[in-house]
Amino acid sequence: MQIAVIGAGVMGSGIAQVLAQAGNVVHCTDVDEDAVAKAREGVTTGRYGFERAVTRGKLDRADADAALDRLTFSTDFEGPVGNAELIVECVPERLDLKIKVFRELDRLAPPNAILASNSSGFPLAALAASTDRPGNVIIWHWASPPVVMKFAEIVVNDDTDPKVIETVSEIAAGCGKNPVVVKDHPMAWGYVANRVYAAMLTEASRVVAEGVASHEDVNQLMVDCFGWPVGPFAMIKGATTGWKD
Ligand SMILES: NC(=O)c1ccc[n+]([C@@H]2O[C@H](COP(=O)([O-])OP(=O)(O)OC[C@H]3O[C@@H](n4cnc5c(N)ncnc54)[C@H](O)[C@@H]3O)[C@@H](O)[C@H]2O)c1
Repeated sequence: MQIAVIGAGVMGSGIAQVLAQAGNVVHCTDVDEDAVAKAREGVTTGRYGFERAVTRGKLDRADADAALDRLTFSTDFEGPVGNAELIVECVPERLDLKIKVFRELDRLAPPNAILASNSSGFPLAALAASTDRPGNVIIWHWASPPVVMKFAEIVVNDDTDPKVIETVSEIAAGCGKNPVVVKDHPMAWGYVANRVYAAMLTEASRVVAEGVASHEDVNQLMVDCFGWPVGPFAMIKGATTGWKD
């Protein structure tokens, strides 16, 4: 499948890498030249890049080279979007920006192309309503780092074309992810995973504000009690850096 990824930051670069490794032809675009260069470097020699995967025996050299051949990065927007069957939007979490990008995508993408957003929580209804193809708009929410995490939260509503849900679920499964389809809530931010996480973080912050425990102690207790890889406050830092530090 021909895929365009919009935004080459922490998520977009990793998502583009995963999609290319799964056999798709992927173009990842960004407005920022530096982000493009960083993304290209990240997918080749970065912590989760192809070189390390080969060195660690997780990927054959030939498969890595083939995936890299299918993956391009640039600041060109119109070309890749005009040729895409699926577009995965990964620009920063600002509703005004996402709506602007979705309007552009709707204008430039082929009429049957699927427009997916990796928003962390904006309602599908808001993004779908900014296009003339609401049935072809869907949320495909990934977790960081995309190369590692099996998370695939797929958010739909009554307008979403069942074929679109099936196609995106199949592509996610083809990427080695566990697609879970959930319903959009037009008034709530966070779908399922981030709503539940936010509730937990509110309580963790309250514990610290009350002087009951430090950030570090809350993190340590949650790791030791629930077997989480890191505690609630460390998750925020990891997500913004892409776990590269
Ligand atoms: N970081 C995480 O852990 C995480 C996890 C799941 C979902 N998300 C969501 O993924 C999205 C992207 O997050 P991120 O962490 O990758 O952000 P980021 O800041 O690392 O990357 C965003 C990129 O989008 C680019 N951009 C801005 N406007 C653009 C435009 N009009 N066209 C093309 N590119 C544009 C920026 O230059 C930047 O490189 C957000 O909606 C975020 O909430 C993030």
